[in-house]
Amino acid sequence: MSDAHALATRDGITDDIAYLRAAYPRGDWAKHVNFGQLCDFWLHVHQSLRTEGGAVEGIIADFREGRLDAQAFPHRFVPALNQFLGHLDGHHRIEDAVYFPKFRALDPRMQRGFDLLEADHHAIHDALETTLGSARGLLASLSEPNRDARVVDTHADHAALLTRLLLRHLADEEDLVIPAMLEHGERRVG
Ligand SMILES: [Fe+2]
Ligand SMILES: [Fe+2]
Repeated sequence: MSDAHALATRDGITDDIAYLRAAYPRGDWAKHVNFGQLCDFWLHVHQSLRTEGGAVEGIIADFREGRLDAQAFPHRFVPALNQFLGHLDGHHRIEDAVYFPKFRALDPRMQRGFDLLEADHHAIHDALETTLGSARGLLASLSEPNRDARVVDTHADHAALLTRLLLRHLADEEDLVIPAMLEHGERRVG
């Protein structure tokens, strides 16, 4: 993946990769006759990932800003983080294994876009592992009497990076998969 398309730095995907996007404007997706259960489900999953990522960031902010103490924090944080990361990992696995190969088979012009999305999944997985590692460090530090506040800052930075990468990826993936399903019909990829 060239630097111009790297998830961490890009600001959307170009029209030559999202070659169906102009024909299917986002605001009209749900009105299209081919917009069915799979399109709806895909967007719904993405929306819940955004919500779950936001919830984790909110809990970290509550802890950093003193609205949650070190006793209450893990009870909120651990289940929210597990739910978010588990959902994210499961979603990407099924896309890589089941859905993306079917999109690639629709048209040779899909290849570049799905190479890009798969590269995104690797970048997001790396950020997920880093976030998980710093979360473990943070949880272990809670019982230490002279806790270093930088452990929280480090984890907050990692979680924020993961969220930023994920939000970019979700929007760009929608620009590829929804127009493709409207053009070719959901049944070709469902
Ligand atoms: Fe994805
Ligand atoms: Fe997705």
